[in-house]
Amino acid sequence: MPEASDTTDDRAALDLLVRGFQISRMLRLVADFGVADRIEPDGQVAIDTLAEACGVQPQPLIRVLRALAAFNVFTVAADGSIGHTPRSRLLRTDTRNSMHHSARFWAAPGSWAAWAMLDAAMTGGVPQIAAWNTERFAYLRAHPDEARGFDAMMANFPDNRHAAVASAYDFSGAGLIADIGGGNGEALRHILARFPEPRGLVFDRDDVTAAIQPEDLLGGRISATGGSFFDGVPPGADIYMLIRVLHNWPDDDCLRILRACRTVMEPQALLLIGDQVLEPDPARGQPASYLVDTQMMAMFGTARERTRDEFASLLSKADFTLRRVIPTSSPVWIVEAAPS
Ligand SMILES: C[S@@+](CC[C@H](N)C(=O)[O-])C[C@H]1O[C@@H](n2cnc3c(N)ncnc32)[C@H](O)[C@@H]1O
Repeated sequence: MPEASDTTDDRAALDLLVRGFQISRMLRLVADFGVADRIEPDGQVAIDTLAEACGVQPQPLIRVLRALAAFNVFTVAADGSIGHTPRSRLLRTDTRNSMHHSARFWAAPGSWAAWAMLDAAMTGGVPQIAAWNTERFAYLRAHPDEARGFDAMMANFPDNRHAAVASAYDFSGAGLIADIGGGNGEALRHILARFPEPRGLVFDRDDVTAAIQPEDLLGGRISATGGSFFDGVPPGADIYMLIRVLHNWPDDDCLRILRACRTVMEPQALLLIGDQVLEPDPARGQPASYLVDTQMMAMFGTARERTRDEFASLLSKADFTLRRVIPTSSPVWIVEAAPS
């Protein structure tokens, strides 16, 4: 037997990592039932009352809540009353940048089944397609509830990138900012709240833009256009943004998206790519960054997070010049490029 180099701590930590899927699934369950919203931020609720409000039985619910409480998500008192912790309060939908949407998303059926097929990626396949026989965005179109959950998760992603992008870049000189693949428009709402002059245009798949609520268009300052960036993007903007878009696509498709932007851009217009610039050394990077990268593999196969050099190469092939790479307070960097 080789000498054991592991410590008890390593063994216990690895044991919890190995069982991480159980925690994800339970977090989704409590988010699906809206448990966090049913407990006042500083209040306590009897398990019977909570279970009745959720329409479930008290015994299975308290078992799930006990397991989560062991990870400091909710408290479970000896008398069966349930309360909040700082972590469980983040699951309330009225919390800024709520993690409710995230808890529902990662273990939602689409993602869950794709991850079950992760091996497919090891031989060049796409786990999403192995699981569902259709590509990811077609799957979302066919499952509107999950699609709207995805939009909400993107808008409230724990990396807080929309606020970070708005505060890291000076948008004041722009008349019109087009957010290509802009989801439900959250980035533009953050930017326009900070900069009073520009108007915004969110461009995304038609089912995504059709679901944007009128009150989210800031009284007409934001307009929404549905379509596919593979067929072209609207002209006339001073700034084109692609936030967390290119990482969904392999290089060939990224080039098509970049060229669609390049085709309509005036010489003085700018392109901003908002994506992670992946740290090649995982000992120095943030763990969540590499999880996003493997999520891209599960959903899209060869789509991935990229390094600075990889962005520079893509941009040059699409007739752009990379001008600078600007860090933000989130893992998303702003890669600024101009038509060559
Ligand atoms: C990872 S999400 C990023 C959303 C948003 N930019 C953000 O940072 O929260 C990628 C977006 O690309 C959109 N998308 C995918 N395929 C598209 C297409 N062919 N044309 C336009 N948008 C597309 C998706 O609907 C989704 O909103």
